[in-house]
Amino acid sequence: MNAQHRKPASGIGILGVGYFVPEGELTNADLEKIVDTTDEWIRERTGISKRHKTDAETATSDLAAGAALKAIEDAGITPTDIGLIIVGTATPDMFFPSTACLVQKALEAPQAAAFDVSAACSGFLYGLSIAENFVNSGKHEYVLVIGAETLTKIVDWSDKTTCVLFGDGAGAVVVGRVGDGRGIISSYLGSDGGMGDLLNLPAGGSRMPASEETVRNGMHYVKMQGNKLFKVAVKAMASAAVKALEDTGYTTDDLEILVTHQANQRIIDATARRIAVPPEKVYSNVEFFGNTSAASIPIALAEAKKKGILKEGMLVELVSFGGGLTWASVLLRW
Ligand code: UT7
Repeated sequence: MNAQHRKPASGIGILGVGYFVPEGELTNADLEKIVDTTDEWIRERTGISKRHKTDAETATSDLAAGAALKAIEDAGITPTDIGLIIVGTATPDMFFPSTACLVQKALEAPQAAAFDVSAACSGFLYGLSIAENFVNSGKHEYVLVIGAETLTKIVDWSDKTTCVLFGDGAGAVVVGRVGDGRGIISSYLGSDGGMGDLLNLPAGGSRMPASEETVRNGMHYVKMQGNKLFKVAVKAMASAAVKALEDTGYTTDDLEILVTHQANQRIIDATARRIAVPPEKVYSNVEFFGNTSAASIPIALAEAKKKGILKEGMLVELVSFGGGLTWASVLLRW
């Protein structure tokens, strides 16, 4: 396929975007007082200097609703226009009701159907792909897709290998018809349950129900084999980025902005290098937010738009990777 035969954009894309993070911040200096770590180690190995942290009363749905209201305003619609709410999260308020249902209540959008997507850090892109299909089928005119997390609630604050990485926040988009020549061009979803043990939260579900013993053994905290995950993350995100470009007539040379899951600056850099996207085309804010899991891509999009970096008509690729393992990519004309 050559440039004359490029796959057209679907006309379905992102009408509005917004993010919301809690006011509380945790700097590397704060972490030095909690675990045996240093600002230097965290910056060098992850690129993170601070992250946001919710207070005891705030839950994922609160952040999700905050981001949703901003995205809805940005799209120029009202909550009662939304037909479906999808929340990607690994830190739901509770098992059920879904966080999406709690957001529906908070937004006062009784007409909307609502469900969560469980794909860890890839939850937002999985949700975006589902939303495109619902709009394309004519079932819904406007679908709200939110990535929202409070990872600081499920990390072990005595484990320096995980607690320095994560932050809280939410990002949201309204998906609908954006007009010819714009919107999603292609998307790709992948997973490998065989590597699920690299990143999980073992207890609290039906395999290992909550008990005094599980709590005593810290089995309700995130468990991660960071080093192994690092290598898989780079390979999986690079390959997912290429998959979404396949058969579209576009190559990585055509990309104007690459937004990957913000797990670690070294992972972002290595992924971009592997697919030959130069640093100036890579948007990153992991330094100030840490790894916000499913929220990281929509937060980055909202921030890039607010700063005037992300402009209408740009060719954008979004790529994620997370527990499951899961990975995903979406190519779109903004
Ligand atoms: O959202 C998707 C899921 N998460 C990820 O994608 C994370 C992927 N992994 C990573 O980002 C990196 O593997 C980490 C940042 C977690 C770790 O970096 P690394 O370069 O892979 O370090 P490592 O695990 O190989 O550990 C190197 C050393 C170890 O000490 P020894 O055994 O060499 O003496 C660790 O104990 O660094 C030590 N270490 C720390 N030292 C100070 C680990 N965490 C810390 C810390 N502060 N916070």
